[in-house]
Amino acid sequence: ARAGSLELPPQAAAAAPAAPNGCAANGHANGHANGADVTKAEPFVMLGGLEGHVEGILRCRRIVFIACGTSYHACLAARKTLEDFAAMPVVVELAGDFMDREAPVFRDDTCVFVSQSGETADTLRALEYAKNKGALCVGVTNTVGSAISNATHCGVHLNAGFEIGVASTKAYTSQIVALTMVALLLGADSRAKAPKRLEAMRALARLPEDVSRALALDEDMRALAGQLKDAQSLIFFGRGYNYSTALEAALKVKEVALIHSEGINAGEMKHGPLALVDENLPIIVIATQDGMHRKMVSVIEQLLARNGKLIILCNGDDPDMDAFAARGCSLIRVPATVDALQPIVNIVPLQLLSYHLTTLRGFNVDQPRNLAKSVTVT
Ligand code: G6P
Repeated sequence: ARAGSLELPPQAAAAAPAAPNGCAANGHANGHANGADVTKAEPFVMLGGLEGHVEGILRCRRIVFIACGTSYHACLAARKTLEDFAAMPVVVELAGDFMDREAPVFRDDTCVFVSQSGETADTLRALEYAKNKGALCVGVTNTVGSAISNATHCGVHLNAGFEIGVASTKAYTSQIVALTMVALLLGADSRAKAPKRLEAMRALARLPEDVSRALALDEDMRALAGQLKDAQSLIFFGRGYNYSTALEAALKVKEVALIHSEGINAGEMKHGPLALVDENLPIIVIATQDGMHRKMVSVIEQLLARNGKLIILCNGDDPDMDAFAARGCSLIRVPATVDALQPIVNIVPLQLLSYHLTTLRGFNVDQPRNLAKSVTVT
């Protein structure tokens, strides 16, 4: 019952290709195969596992997301989408830190536990704690029958398929899709948001195509990895929706390629990180054309003024970036989509980059040293 679906009008549904890597969260709920109902003129999102709970969530005072690792980054990526569509305060918490603080939770909170495995000990502990405080507990997991999906009041299954590698990849993109669908569902009654909602639903239908185009950057990412494989450190700058992309890309590089890496909010650049910039440290700047584009152009100018060695992840048709290329920056061009989904497209070449860095350095990409797929101890 927790599978979701995205309903599209005939034209859009026909145009929607199959998901290439499990990145779409649409399942087979209530008889609508693959989520496309060609009899409907108006698209809508249906999440069977939240049925009967939407009103309750909307009546809450806030939504608290609680997760670890990559799942935490997915929550950060979706935060603004939730804020925009549900028009509610949204807080994102690391499960371990949340429990270290025994943070206040109220009966009129909705707590959303996001976990690929559904078994992460810190997230599970936070779930028991929030449940005892009387909060409505929602699970977003990739594992039917997992401890988190069993213990929550309601939830959404990712249906991303079994994820083998320790480093989460398709679960991350699927988590952002699922949380975007939750946001669209919660905002379904807002007339003011209707055009933006429709735009997001059409973009969801196009997402497999966009992700396929991003996957086609594989050879380019291998060549880039060849240039970066001996770097001491890699820095990723992003902000807004793509702060999460910077954090997640840095996590991938450190966990599988075993290179020191940091994801930095570009808004904090002047509060310390700028001191690191020189002609040697490779910096990857995420500057796709979302609401932060102008600010990122200014960040790039400031990094170039300090002789930064820049690789810019940007969209295809962007004259600002053409000008930066002429000034010596390398560009990774990805397809453009709506702001809410751009982090999904953006992370794909950076996942590929981590993959190639790992294999070129001779490490095992599926089983990095010292790490476990599921951390079941606190
Ligand atoms: C481990 C995995 C990560 C994962 C994190 C949270 O550290 O290696 O890939 O992001 O746990 O796991 P979860 O299953 O709760 O998403």
